[in-house]
Amino acid sequence: MLPLQSRHTFALPVMARDIIEISKAEQLTEVDFNIPFMILGEGSNTVFLNDYSGLVISMRNKGIEKTQDDEFIYLNVAAGENWHELVCSTLADGILGLENLALIPGSVGATPVQNIGAYGVEVKQLIEYVKGYNINQKRFYTLSNEQCEFSYRESIFKGQLKQKFVITEVGFKFKKSWRAELSYGPLKKILLTGNNKEDAKKIFHQVVAIREEKLPDPKKIPNAGSFFKNPIILEPKLQKIIKEYPKIPHYPVGLNSQNIKAFKLAAGWLIEQANFKGFRIAGIEVNPKQALVLLNHGNSTGEDITNMILSIQQTIKDKFSVDLEHEVRIIDTDGECKITLNHSCFKG
Ligand code: EPU
Repeated sequence: MLPLQSRHTFALPVMARDIIEISKAEQLTEVDFNIPFMILGEGSNTVFLNDYSGLVISMRNKGIEKTQDDEFIYLNVAAGENWHELVCSTLADGILGLENLALIPGSVGATPVQNIGAYGVEVKQLIEYVKGYNINQKRFYTLSNEQCEFSYRESIFKGQLKQKFVITEVGFKFKKSWRAELSYGPLKKILLTGNNKEDAKKIFHQVVAIREEKLPDPKKIPNAGSFFKNPIILEPKLQKIIKEYPKIPHYPVGLNSQNIKAFKLAAGWLIEQANFKGFRIAGIEVNPKQALVLLNHGNSTGEDITNMILSIQQTIKDKFSVDLEHEVRIIDTDGECKITLNHSCFKG
């Protein structure tokens, strides 16, 4: 058994049966995928509840290649590169577009999986393609942006290709005619100078400042970022909730398949309204500064986390009739599972 504590930012002191590090994509052709396995980047969105009985495949390949034409700059980036370092190096190099996504922990290869997003930008807007290894077909190929089926915190890699495809490289495409994205509240007050490089840096510094204030650095206090997804509900339910909670933050996200208006709610607001800020189960605490984040102060078990998740889900269900889904990937002894009020650890 090998330790996993330093390999996931939630840092529970658990073990894995085996760990293999991939520093060159071709190594994947030699891996025995017939035993239980899971793919790991920097572990910033993954929580291991207990000792994992399978093989952890840790993506560590490196490399960035740049090309350009009149209109665009293109980067082909290896999955094992660190995301924030990529954001910093692109900005330093005058490649603009990733500034709103600064300081998100994790590896480049993990970003398409959950289509990371923050402060008005989702990574799908910058991704041109994703390359990887299909485990069943035993071959490398490339998916176009469209084939990745991106949506809010979702992609084909969490759906049809889950456990079937290992992301090895991500292709990014940056428009040379950059435009600032300032729609997110706290960025609105940024005054642009007209010098694109300077303006992108201003956004970068503002995003870093907001994140540092609200979101704890996992190196100092272990955490896994937003623990729950912001739930999407339909207009009739929203109207009922608004009657009781007129101040509830809600954002239109289009129409569902029956043409009913859908809205995104702020899970952090719901959790705060239910008085969870600072609430603890053993060493697991709801972040007093941003209720969507759970902190691990140590001396806690997977059971404590499960109980925390269920307790938040139950309270939000009772108070607002809204189901909260955890956003982090939860791994139990025999693989990934989903914790819901109906199943305390649902596999599949
Ligand atoms: N809010 C509260 N109380 C809280 C937290 C939030 O009232 O404790 C309210 C805020 O006042 C605001 C709204 O909820 O009106 C949204 O809050 P915030 O802007 O902090 O963002 P979020 O919805 O909680 C999402 C992402 C974050 C991303 C931020 C900024 C998800 C699951 N989370 O959080 O992503 O950084 O927006 O764009 O979509 C992550 O995924 O790990 C992550 C940190």
